[in-house]
Amino acid sequence: MLAYAVISASRIMRKRTMFRWFLTVVAVLCVGSAIFYADLLRSAFLRNPIPRSADSIARGRQLFQKNCAVCHGAEGRGDGMVAAALPQRPDDLSKIAPPPIFPDGVVAYRIINGVKMMPAFKSTLSENEIWDLLNFIRSLAVKPP
Ligand code: HEC
Repeated sequence: MLAYAVISASRIMRKRTMFRWFLTVVAVLCVGSAIFYADLLRSAFLRNPIPRSADSIARGRQLFQKNCAVCHGAEGRGDGMVAAALPQRPDDLSKIAPPPIFPDGVVAYRIINGVKMMPAFKSTLSENEIWDLLNFIRSLAVKPP
C-alpha cells in the first residue's frame, strides 16, 4: 500500500516535471522566435511614406526593370529571363496579397532582406527607392487595394 502510494506520487511528480520542462521549452521557443522575427514584426507596422503617385510608380518601374526584371519579369509575372533556371520561380507580384495580409512594411522587408533565392537589396537601394518599388508592385495588382 505504502509502496503503491510512493510509486504513484513519484509518477505524478515526474509528470509535473515533464510538464514544467514542456512549459520551459515552449517559453524559450516563443521568446526566441519573437527576437528572431522582431524586425519583421516591427516592419509590419511601417507605413509607406511616399504617396502612390504616377511619379513614384514610374520611378519604381525603372528601378524594377534594372534590378528585378531578370527574375521577376518586366511586369512582375515571375517570367524573367533567369526565372526558369531558379529552383523556385518567383511569385507573380501582381497577385501579392494586399494589406492587411501583406502590409506594405512586410513586402518592403522582403525586398530589403531578401527571401531564400531572392537577394537582399538593403545595400543597393535607398529607402525611398524601396518605397517607389513598393508603389510599382502595388500598382500591378489586378484590383488595387
Ligand atoms: C535572383 C532573382 C531575383 C531578383 C534579382 C529579385 N527577386 Fe524577388 N524573388 C525572387 C524569388 C525566387 C522569390 C520567391 C522567394 C520565395 O518565396 O521563396 C522572390 C520573391 C519576391 C517578393 C515576394 C516576397 C514574399 O514574401 O512572397 C517580392 C515582393 C520581390 N521578390 C520583390 C523583388 C524586387 C522589388 C526586386 C528588385 C529590387 C527583386 N525581387 C529582385 C527572385 C528574385
